[in-house]
Amino acid sequence: MSGALIDGKAFSADVRARVADHVVKLKEQGITPGLAVVLVGEDPASEVYVRNKGIQTREAGMNSYEHKLPADTTQDALMALVAQLNADPAVHGILVQLPLPDHLDSEAVLNAIEPAKDVDGFHILNVGLLATGQKSMVACTPLGCLMMLRDRLGDLSGLNAVIVGRSNIVGKPMAQLLLRDSCTVTIAHSRTRDLGEVCRRADILVAAVGRPRIIPGDWIKPGATVIDVGINRIEEDGKTRLVGDVDFDSAREVAGAITPVPGGVGPMTIACLLANTLTACCRAVG
Ligand code: GUN
Repeated sequence: MSGALIDGKAFSADVRARVADHVVKLKEQGITPGLAVVLVGEDPASEVYVRNKGIQTREAGMNSYEHKLPADTTQDALMALVAQLNADPAVHGILVQLPLPDHLDSEAVLNAIEPAKDVDGFHILNVGLLATGQKSMVACTPLGCLMMLRDRLGDLSGLNAVIVGRSNIVGKPMAQLLLRDSCTVTIAHSRTRDLGEVCRRADILVAAVGRPRIIPGDWIKPGATVIDVGINRIEEDGKTRLVGDVDFDSAREVAGAITPVPGGVGPMTIACLLANTLTACCRAVG
């Protein structure tokens, strides 16, 4: 028996359609949500993400403001742009694409974004609000994972959740969200001893380490729900392929449900970005 596929593509289309419906109503009142995306440098993967964000923002009926800056942009110039976007009433959400070039101080830039416009949920204030269970902007990838888990499992209360990966972008906020839903949460990482044993206890396994197929099927508890956040580019059989952190074929044999790569978590991230932009706009206009 193989586990069910969690179709992030279909789910994200649904979320985007609901956002677009709400945007239509706002526009009738003369309000158009606006998202500003800042890209520094020419990282090809980041350029693809930013282009897709722009397309989907416009498809949802929102305004998209793209700011592409050269790789040698100074910290002062980037901070000045963030200040300008903070002050612009047409901009409800601001996203600075990561990673930034090495000479720039990412933390300083992220913490300069007005917290109410921080649709990435990376500002230290939003991180603190989430950690203390208060209303905050929530990082898009973990938010998308949570939506899929709730849709699949309903009430998550009391379930054992294991998150493999401790990044600020995914692992830590994912842990906070699952804790808020009353899961028993373990954060595992590259130094965790007997990682297989830890994973086998998981009713919910979230893989977010960025290593191709490091989680094999025999680390999965039978019937578990597996969310694979990894997007790893590998060369195989003379072709470039995108694979997750989970070995999909063997894991699907054991899991109750699993997200594919691509087509699982990825599409949900942009859908949640649009949902966060809508939320920021609604809060701004009251
Ligand atoms: N780079 C990879 N993922 C993300 C994300 O969720 N937000 C931003 N700003 N940059 C990223």
